[in-house]
Amino acid sequence: MNAQLASTAKAMVAGDKGLLAMDESHPTCGKRFAKLGISQTVEMRQAYREMIVTTPGLGECISGAILFDETIRQQTQDGRPFIAVLKAAGIIPGIKVDAGAKELAGHPGEKITEGLDGLRERLAEYVQLGARFAKWRGVITIGDGLPSRGCLQGNAHALARYAALCQEAGLVPIVEPEVLMDGAHTMEQCRAVTEKTLRTVFDQLAAQRVLLEGMILKPNMVLAGLACPEQESVDEVAAATVATLMRTVPAAVPGVAFLSGGQSSELASARLSAMNAHFKQRVPWALAFSFARAIQQPALEIWRGDAANVPAAQQALLHRAQCNRAARRGEYSDEMEEETNR
Ligand code: 13P
Repeated sequence: MNAQLASTAKAMVAGDKGLLAMDESHPTCGKRFAKLGISQTVEMRQAYREMIVTTPGLGECISGAILFDETIRQQTQDGRPFIAVLKAAGIIPGIKVDAGAKELAGHPGEKITEGLDGLRERLAEYVQLGARFAKWRGVITIGDGLPSRGCLQGNAHALARYAALCQEAGLVPIVEPEVLMDGAHTMEQCRAVTEKTLRTVFDQLAAQRVLLEGMILKPNMVLAGLACPEQESVDEVAAATVATLMRTVPAAVPGVAFLSGGQSSELASARLSAMNAHFKQRVPWALAFSFARAIQQPALEIWRGDAANVPAAQQALLHRAQCNRAARRGEYSDEMEEETNR
C-alpha cells in the first residue's frame, strides 16, 4: 500500500505537468456562473465540465484532475463517464472530499472545514468509482489578531485525520491549508502566518502517522493581501514562498502543488515559473500547480454556457495549461501570452 501511494503521489507531480482543480462545490460554481449570466443548473455544470475534460491535448500538461461528487458520477453527452475520458487522456482522477468551511464556534471571522463524519465510507465509494487521490481544503484568515490558535490547530487536526483516512483507503491525500489572500495584510504577515500554519499542519500529520511520501501539499504562495497597496515583484514572491517552504516542508514530501487563490492567471504562472527558474535544483520537492481559477477562468469567460463557444474555450483552457507546464520548467514568459493575443 505504501509503495502504491508513493508511486501515485510521484505521478501526480511528475515531469512538467500539474493538477487541474475542477472541484467547485455547487455554491462556488454557481457564483462563477452567475457573474457571467450562465444558469446554475445541473445541465450547465455537466456541459461546462464536459468541455473541460474533452479538451484535446489536455493530458500533455495535466497529470490529474480534482472532481466534485456530482462530476465524478457524470458522463459526456455521448455516454462516456468523465472518469473514463480522463483516464484515456492519461489524467489521474481525484475527488474533493471535504464538506466545506463553516463558521468556527467561538472564533468570529474564522472557519473550520467539516466532513470527517462518515468519511471512511465515502472514500471507499470513491475508490470504487475510480478516484486515486483526494483533496481537503482548510482556510486560514489573516486579520486583526487572526489566525487564532484554535483555528490553526482545528484545521490542521482535521487535515491530518482526513489524510490518514485517505491513505488507509489507498488514496493520496492532497493536504490544502490555504492562507487566504483577502485583506490588506503585507507579504511579511502572509509569510509569518503561512510558516506557522505549515508547522502546525506537519506536526498534526506526524501525530496521525501520515506517510509523507504518499501525500501532496497544496499551499498558498506567500503574497501580500489583494488590498495591500504594496505588492512585491514576481522574484520576491518566489523567493519568500520557497524560503517559507524550506523551513517547514519535510524533504520526504514528493510535491508541492500551489493553489492560485485569486491571483490573475498570468501572475500565478509567472510566480511559479520564477520559483522553478531560480530554485528547482535546490529544493527536494517538485514545485507544481493545482490551479482552478488560474487555469479555468479565461475558458469560462469564453464559453458562457454556449455550445458554439466550446472550441475557443478549450483552446483558452489548453493555453493556460501550457503556460503552467512551461512554468514548471521555469520557462514561462510574457511572450507566451502575446502569441495568443495576436
Ligand atoms: P484556486 O486555484 O482557484 O485557488 O483553486 C484551487 C483549489 O482547488 C481551491 O481548493
